[in-house]
Amino acid sequence: MSDTLEIQFEALSGDHSATTIVLAGPELALGSAARRIEERTKGLLTKAARAANFTGKARSSIEILAPANIEPQRLILAGYGDTKSELDRLWFGGFLYGQIAGRKADAASILSDPQDAGSAGDEVFAADLALGALLRSYSFKKYRSRKPEDEDDNGKDGLRRLAIHCAKPEAAAKLFTSRKAVAEGVFLARDLVNEPANVLGPVEFAERLRELSSAGLSVEVLDENDLKALKMNALLAVGQGSVRPSRVVVMQWSGAKSKRAKPVCFVGKGVCFDSGGISIKPGGGMEDMKGDMGGAAAVAGLMLALAKRNAPVSAVGIVGLTENMPSGTAQRPGDVVTSMSGQTIEVLNTDAEGRLVLADVLWYAQEKFKPRFIVDLATLTGAIMVALGKEHAGLFANDDKLAKELEAAGASTGEKVWRMPLGKAYDKLIDSRVADMKNIGGRYGGAITGAQFIQRFVKGTPWAHLDVAGTAMDSARNEINQSWASGWGVRLLDRLVSDHYEK
Ligand code: BES
Ligand code: MN
Ligand code: ZN
Repeated sequence: MSDTLEIQFEALSGDHSATTIVLAGPELALGSAARRIEERTKGLLTKAARAANFTGKARSSIEILAPANIEPQRLILAGYGDTKSELDRLWFGGFLYGQIAGRKADAASILSDPQDAGSAGDEVFAADLALGALLRSYSFKKYRSRKPEDEDDNGKDGLRRLAIHCAKPEAAAKLFTSRKAVAEGVFLARDLVNEPANVLGPVEFAERLRELSSAGLSVEVLDENDLKALKMNALLAVGQGSVRPSRVVVMQWSGAKSKRAKPVCFVGKGVCFDSGGISIKPGGGMEDMKGDMGGAAAVAGLMLALAKRNAPVSAVGIVGLTENMPSGTAQRPGDVVTSMSGQTIEVLNTDAEGRLVLADVLWYAQEKFKPRFIVDLATLTGAIMVALGKEHAGLFANDDKLAKELEAAGASTGEKVWRMPLGKAYDKLIDSRVADMKNIGGRYGGAITGAQFIQRFVKGTPWAHLDVAGTAMDSARNEINQSWASGWGVRLLDRLVSDHYEK
C-alpha cells in the first residue's frame, strides 16, 4: 500500500498550505473562503480566470503562482461545475488529488466552500471529496527499489498531508470515518491483487487474512486435510497440479444486534495464479493471471471495511484459494470429480477452473451458514469482457430483488453491473453424457454457461454471481483509481449492505 495519505478537516479560516486549492462553481461562483482570497488579492481569482478563459467547468483548473497578500504561494483554482451526485463528488476529490500530486507538494489545503453543494450538505461534500482523494492516492510501489527522477503523482515525494477546510469540520470528520474504513478495504483488495503470485500463493493469502482478526473479524483457515474431510474434491482438483496447497478461509463479522440474525454471505474465487493447467493458456498476457484472485480480494476487502466501520450486520466472507498449474499431478481433461454436493463433474477444460472452486465453496457456505443471500465474485470468464467490455461487471441472479439492489448500489458507487440472462436452454449446454455436468459449454455464451454451472450448486438461497474478469484488474484508470488492481466490488458490496441489510 502507499504511505497512507493523512487527511484532516479544518475550519475555513485557519492556516492554508503553500499549495492551496480554491473552488469555483459554474460561471465562476465563489464560496465564502474563495471570496476572502479574492478580496485580499484585489480580485486576482477573477482576473486570472478571465485571462485563462476559465469558467469553473467541472474538472478544469488554472494555477496562480506567487499571489501577493496571502500565505499560499501556489493557488489552484478548480472548477466543480455541475457536480451533483455522490459519484461526481468522489471523482472530483480524485481530480483534486491529481492536481496537487502532479505538482509535487507534500502538504496541501483544499478550501471546500461550494456555493451550491447540490442536495448534499457542506460536510457531505467535504467528506466525499476526501474519500475521492484518498482512493486516488493509492499506489503499489513496494517492488521498486529505485525511484526515477520524474516520479509521477503517486511517488515517494507525493502528497502526505491534505487539509480540507470546510464549514463543519467536526461533522465532516465524523462522516469520513466510515468512508475511510471502506477505503482501507479497497486498499487491501488492491494490494492483494497487485501482489505477484510468487509472493502470494494460497497459503500466504490465507496468512494475510488471518491477520484481519486484529480488526475484529473471526478468521478460520481450512487446510487440505480439512478440505478433504469436507469432500471439496472439485476445489482440490484445481490445486492438485501445484506444489502449493489449497486453502479455504472463512471470515466472520458479527456486528448485528441480534446474535441469531442470519448472515449475509460473500464468496470469492481466489485462484492465485491461473496458468490454465494442462489446458494451458497461451503465453501472451498470462502474467495477468496473478489477478485471478480478484473476487477473493474483494471479499476480504469488504469484510475488513465492515469491521472497520463497525457495521451493524452479520456477514460471512468465504474465499477458495488455490493455484492452477500444469504438472504430473495436475488434473487432466476428461477427469471426473465428485464435488462436495455429490454432483459429478466432467472436467473437459482445466482452464475452466474457477467454477470448480466456487462449486464447493458455495455448497459449503449454504450448508454451514444458511445465509440470507450469497453474492459470489469471480474473475470467471474472458467471455464477459467480450459481452460487456470493462465498464460493467456481469450480474447473474436467481432473485430479482437482490439483482435490483446490486444495480442500484452499482449506480451510486460507480461500480456498475449489467444483468445477464440465465435459463434452462443455457443450462442444458453443460449437460454431460459421462457425468452430471461438464465444466464448459459450447462456443457461445461462455459467461452464461459459466454462471449456469455455478447455479447448479445453489439450493434455494437467493444468489447473485458477479463476473468481474473485466473490472477487477487492468480496468480503465480513472479519477479514483490509477492502479492495475482496482479493488472493484468492495464499495459496491459495502453499499449493498449499508443500504439494505443493516439494523
Ligand atoms: N481466469 C480465467 C478468466 C479470465 C480471463 C479472467 C481473462 C481475467 C482475464 C478463467 O479461469 C478462464 O480461464 N476462463 C476460460 C473459460 C473457458 C475455458 C470455458 C476463458 O474465459 O477462456
Ligand atoms: Mn482459467
Ligand atoms: Zn481462472
